[in-house]
Amino acid sequence: MADKKARLTVDGLEEVIELPVYSGTEGPDVIDVRPLTSSGLFTYDPGFVSTAACESKITYIDGANGILLHGGYPIEQLAEHSDYLEVCYLLLNGELPTPEQKETFINTIKNHTMVHEQMRNFFNGFRRDAHPMAIMVGVVGALSAFYHDSLDINDAHHREVCAYRLIAKMPTIAAMCYKYSIGQPFMYPKNGLDYAENFLQMMFGNPCEEYVANPIIAKAMDRIFLLHADHEQNASTSTVRLAGSSGANPFACISSGIAALWGPAHGGANEAVLTMLEEIGDESNIDEFILRAKDPDDNFRLMGFGHRVYRNFDPRAKVMKQTCDEVLAELNISDPLLKIAKRLEQIALEDEYFVKRKLYPNVDFYSGIILKAIGIPTNMFTVIFALSRTIGWISHWSEFHSSPNKIGRPRQLYTGSKKRDYPTK
Ligand code: ACO
Repeated sequence: MADKKARLTVDGLEEVIELPVYSGTEGPDVIDVRPLTSSGLFTYDPGFVSTAACESKITYIDGANGILLHGGYPIEQLAEHSDYLEVCYLLLNGELPTPEQKETFINTIKNHTMVHEQMRNFFNGFRRDAHPMAIMVGVVGALSAFYHDSLDINDAHHREVCAYRLIAKMPTIAAMCYKYSIGQPFMYPKNGLDYAENFLQMMFGNPCEEYVANPIIAKAMDRIFLLHADHEQNASTSTVRLAGSSGANPFACISSGIAALWGPAHGGANEAVLTMLEEIGDESNIDEFILRAKDPDDNFRLMGFGHRVYRNFDPRAKVMKQTCDEVLAELNISDPLLKIAKRLEQIALEDEYFVKRKLYPNVDFYSGIILKAIGIPTNMFTVIFALSRTIGWISHWSEFHSSPNKIGRPRQLYTGSKKRDYPTK
């Protein structure tokens, strides 16, 4: 598979080290650095900015040109013509389903929407004011204590059933986290509804009256799920792959992904956007915050702006902006925070600092605004991201286990003390 070679000379080493170079179907070539260890060398790449940690067929991103493909299909086309569950099928199987396969898949997911009745007891152990991500990390990890019949990572059928369970149960668990925090009864899933409608029903319905989802809101919710479904080897997906590499059970691995997603530099950004808007408080304070964001001596950053990979534009943000405009028009809400958001967006798109550094609003900027407009509390934003990304995590986890693999074990550049003796007086 190596069609080219790289040659490396190192001061002090006589030999020229030959390294195979591989070409993928898209994207830059990669240099296989594994032969370096036999020369006593490691590579050094903090933050993995130029390291391909695996081979994958699931998703491709071209950050410079704002391209995101799942199974080769551009995200804009999937957002327009497909839906979340179909994209789940695509990520898991590498191909779009036929109409019959899609129907079977949807029915299978519907079969798994309930969680074990005993899991309800788990929630009572948490404080009502616990962050829903804290609950979710715990409850998803605990699924492994209930679903023993899908834990054999070497059995393809087990892996498949586990994926179905996770796709189906995440909305139920996410809504339970919310209902618990506001002291309302948990709502059972309704399998006659589609995936997004069912989630909205479990979030906003109550046993006393019938809940009917607004179709524009349900469509926006499905889009939020779809646009967050996968993003190749990001921090949380890499965490899931690494946890999976030790042979840990899939529910524990997904729980580790949820934990990694929680941080504000990753999935926590949509919540951080709203926290920032609240901190800004009024349109008259925007200039001061923009100055702070530009000040190299101030750690403050405009949340929801910039992306490690997309250095031009985030194709998901383009679609999300359109959905955001539709939702705001439909709901006709006048919220001062949304006004601040719109003004920030405008400034950042025009201000030289942001334009020069290519810091565009990212998908979380718009998804945060939409979720706020729908009435979803801020601390649930990252939970919704976790729900959406579960399919990406489990697809990568499955791909990892579908071929020969190794435990992940990075090396380091050690700069601590040299070997020394313990002082014995
Ligand atoms: N506000 C102000 N300045 C910024 C911002 C921002 N949001 N993001 C980057 N910059 C500046 C940096 O200070 C740096 O300036 P300099 O060249 O003068 O030193 C320059 O832009 C390049 O930034 P880096 O730190 O090199 O970008 P990096 O790739 O390390 O970080 C990240 C990307 C973490 C997303 C960053 O842009 C950020 O913190 N954004 C806000 C948090 C956020 O929205 N995260 C969500 C990411 S999307 C997702 O996870 C789905």
